[in-house]
Amino acid sequence: MKNLKEQILDSIEDTLPEIKVRRENINHAPKRKDVLTKTEKILAIKNALRYFSPQHHEILAKEFSEELNKYGHIYMYRFKPEYEIKPRNIEEYPHKSKQAASIMLMISNNLCDAIAQHPDELITYGSNGSVFQNWVQYRLTMKYLAEMTDEQTLVMYSGHPLGLFPSSKNSPRVVITNGMVIPNYSKPEHWEKFYALGVSQYGQMTAGSFMYIGPQGIVHGTTITIINAGRLKFKSGSDLSGKLFVTSGLGGMSGAQAKAGVICGIVTIVAEINKKVIETRHSQGWVNEFYSDLDELCKRVKKAKEDKEAISIAYHGNIVDLWEKLFQENIVPDLGSDQTSLHNPFAGGYYPIGMSYEDANKLMTENPEEFKKAIQKTLVKHVDLVNKLSEKGMYFWDYGNAFLLEAGRAGADVFKNENDFKYPSYVEDIMGPLCFDYGFGPFRWVCTSCDPKDLEITDKIACDVLEKLYLNAPEEIKQQLMDNIHWIKEAKKNNLVVGSQARILYADSEGRIKIAQAFNEAIKEGKISAPIVLGRDHHDVSGTDSPYRETSNIYDGSKFTSDMAVQNFVGDSFRGATWISLHNGGGVGWGEVINGGFGLLIDGSEESKEKIQSMLFWDVNNGIARRSWARNKGAIFAIKEEMKREANLKVTLPNFVDDKIIDNLIF
Ligand SMILES: NC(=O)c1ccc[n+]([C@@H]2O[C@H](COP(=O)([O-])OP(=O)(O)OC[C@H]3O[C@@H](n4cnc5c(N)ncnc54)[C@H](O)[C@@H]3O)[C@@H](O)[C@H]2O)c1
Repeated sequence: MKNLKEQILDSIEDTLPEIKVRRENINHAPKRKDVLTKTEKILAIKNALRYFSPQHHEILAKEFSEELNKYGHIYMYRFKPEYEIKPRNIEEYPHKSKQAASIMLMISNNLCDAIAQHPDELITYGSNGSVFQNWVQYRLTMKYLAEMTDEQTLVMYSGHPLGLFPSSKNSPRVVITNGMVIPNYSKPEHWEKFYALGVSQYGQMTAGSFMYIGPQGIVHGTTITIINAGRLKFKSGSDLSGKLFVTSGLGGMSGAQAKAGVICGIVTIVAEINKKVIETRHSQGWVNEFYSDLDELCKRVKKAKEDKEAISIAYHGNIVDLWEKLFQENIVPDLGSDQTSLHNPFAGGYYPIGMSYEDANKLMTENPEEFKKAIQKTLVKHVDLVNKLSEKGMYFWDYGNAFLLEAGRAGADVFKNENDFKYPSYVEDIMGPLCFDYGFGPFRWVCTSCDPKDLEITDKIACDVLEKLYLNAPEEIKQQLMDNIHWIKEAKKNNLVVGSQARILYADSEGRIKIAQAFNEAIKEGKISAPIVLGRDHHDVSGTDSPYRETSNIYDGSKFTSDMAVQNFVGDSFRGATWISLHNGGGVGWGEVINGGFGLLIDGSEESKEKIQSMLFWDVNNGIARRSWARNKGAIFAIKEEMKREANLKVTLPNFVDDKIIDNLIF
């Protein structure tokens, strides 16, 4: 048997690997819709065969056509490697470029069984968040990364490695685009077709950019959201004991709600239709108990509230049935939300009431029109119940999953007026004004040694930096700093690491730069044993233009533009990023968002020090400048502070017009 390095360097041109049967004991992606015409199916097969020499075409053409018929997509299962895909110490990957090796580690993390939602279909999260379209793309990419030098850049088109191009040491090692299409061809049905043809993919956010760190990232964001939702609702600080939070979804990101609920000390019920998903979260300890019987569940919830337990309870069933029961029993949650995958409403992201999970999956592929009707009917009822409970005092928010958008399209009663929804998106009320406008966003790092001891040292360093910043921080950001100091102190105890040795916290530009510089220094001094990958979620200050989520608190009419996200990607590329990515889709659906991210490997060198300063500064302040131009008060404050700190920063500031002048205008 060849060792790992030999296998990664192996060519797919040699003999064909043994045919593989899909593993049955893991979660698989739903069958994709049969959207191609006969001519297009032939094109899809021809497209797939481009990767192989003609000697293999006869066998593979038949095999790929079977995959296309059976699964609606050609995954090339046969080419999944024999070795276990998991994050390993950076030195275990064959490489000529350390930067390239760090990217191999990050890809391996996104696709390992412990992390990926549908590992065999190369989906990391969100039911369609692809790292690659097929296993040959994975293999070719790993081989390119193993062979490339610091004088080359790997160009990736939606999972397809176009090739290595000569560049320079300071260029990114990989430039990724996912799902970029001509705007008129950016409807979900276009994605279905392009993905089936093998010419595009939905990279979600950190899936296709190799920056997913497991559910920890989202646990942190969710914790911040729940605490601040509580502060908004109760105006009485952060004590949520004895209060009730109801939501749905225990999947890739939504699963974080159960854990975050417990961290916040609130009683949390999460409805989840897929039993396998509940079992996974239960075995991880993120879900404490689960019930299929609504009467039993209600009894348990009442007791948990009385006893002020910090507990997460899963309901195995449809969220709409849960809302209905709570309404009937007059159990009014204090906080409510939804995190089904409504960015993908008609292809497995949301399930209708009145039928089993299995029957729904069947209807979805056999009669998509009927399935769509059932989904829309369910959404109307869903909103009706949320409205009734909200009238009784529940604070409900849209969790960036396109719930209000799709419910509105289904004809549900979600509108306050012609343009606005009745409920805020969590970014409008919480993330935007409290975090993004001040530059606070999901900064993260990964220890490439894969050694928990390194992670522990970084936690301590990050905490020290934040505590120092807190001492002289302006009032406006003290709460954010304090929440994150608390988070990082508890992080190890909360046992959040799944996959790579990674950590997340929210920090502003100053915090991110100071933490990163302190890491760089510690690597130089040998206190941390190996380089560190810095990155962030795309769901951040500058990385994402998404009118119903990240940029939903932009009120100057520019929320449907995507200059910020594109500029961010370009700006990061020449300020030192090791890899960069730009995506269409992610979070709220194809055609609904443009987002991007980066990875930056720091190794204790002077070059790393310069890149940290230049790239992280831009990566945050681009977004603050845009938010400030949109007249967001927090952002105006934050960008003025940054201009005081950095003489070379000169940002165009908005003037405010007196309302009296406007009121006198006649149109
Ligand atoms: N929390 C955040 O900050 C945040 C950030 C980004 C995105 N999101 C959005 O949240 C959504 C969920 O993401 P995910 O990665 O967890 O997706 P996922 O597909 O892994 O999980 C969604 C879960 O909802 C379940 N579900 C679907 N319909 C249901 C129903 N009617 N009743 C009960 N359960 C049902 C599914 O079985 C699935 O397990 C996405 O739209 C994502 O874009 C949230």
